[in-house]
Amino acid sequence: MNLDEKIVIDKKSGKITVTGSDRAGVYDIGTPEAFAVISDAWIRSGWDTKYVYSFTWLGRPIIQLPEDMIRMQEVIYTVKPDMLIETGVAHGGSLIFYASLFHAMGRGRVVGLDIEIRPHNRKAIESHELFDYITLIQGDSASPEVAGEVEKLVRPGEVVMVSLDSNHSKEHVLAELSAYAPLVSVGSYVVVMDGIMEHLAGAPRTEDDWTWNNPRQASVEFVSMNPDFEIVEPEFRFNEGVVTKRVTYWPSAYLKRIR
Ligand SMILES: C[S@@+](CC[C@H](N)C(=O)[O-])C[C@H]1O[C@@H](n2cnc3c(N)ncnc32)[C@H](O)[C@@H]1O
Repeated sequence: MNLDEKIVIDKKSGKITVTGSDRAGVYDIGTPEAFAVISDAWIRSGWDTKYVYSFTWLGRPIIQLPEDMIRMQEVIYTVKPDMLIETGVAHGGSLIFYASLFHAMGRGRVVGLDIEIRPHNRKAIESHELFDYITLIQGDSASPEVAGEVEKLVRPGEVVMVSLDSNHSKEHVLAELSAYAPLVSVGSYVVVMDGIMEHLAGAPRTEDDWTWNNPRQASVEFVSMNPDFEIVEPEFRFNEGVVTKRVTYWPSAYLKRIR
């Protein structure tokens, strides 16, 4: 995040003026450039206000930006995985979200891993209407024991997708990538969440090392050493507007297995 950037929005003229950054200039508010600048400010305000801690999916808290979940839905509907492995369960909202997609699609199931599944969360997830689509595993997602347990759940020939949303340190995400990326099918993805940490360093509730110690840096390092994967931006499945970039907590998140 460039803390020196300043933005003035003039609603009457429909212009925004940006100073103090490499995108300094005057932009019409209806341009993708203006939308990107305003979205970055909105992301920052959303971080400070804890906006992402205000949603549920079918009754369970889901700690995500709604756009990220809509885009994830687009990818899941395109890939049609038989199994989605997600690290980081928390209240279970994202597991229920994926389960609801698999229910609607008539295929797929989700395995959720968490180092601590609190009893009240476990109870709510296990008693949910969609629990038939969910397997819960408690343990450190980077441990060989947990990875081995997950591997046993994958049936031969299944299309596998992975999403990483647990401990967001670079080291942990790299360990998760080396444990779970090999399970991902060609054409499918590992989705590495919350790379936004890199851009939030300097805001409240952040650490100075977030500039390098974050999931995005783990993704970049992983693909530089693993030619089977590349970071891609999944195409929008529908777009009649001029915005072509995601407003997201997950920059550089989609690691596609290409061979
Ligand atoms: C951001 S929350 C997950 C949010 C959830 N995916 C959602 O969308 O609502 C992160 C979770 O990761 C878990 N976690 C932290 N370190 C972990 C580790 N080493 N292994 C597995 N889970 C871990 C935490 O207990 C916490 O529940």
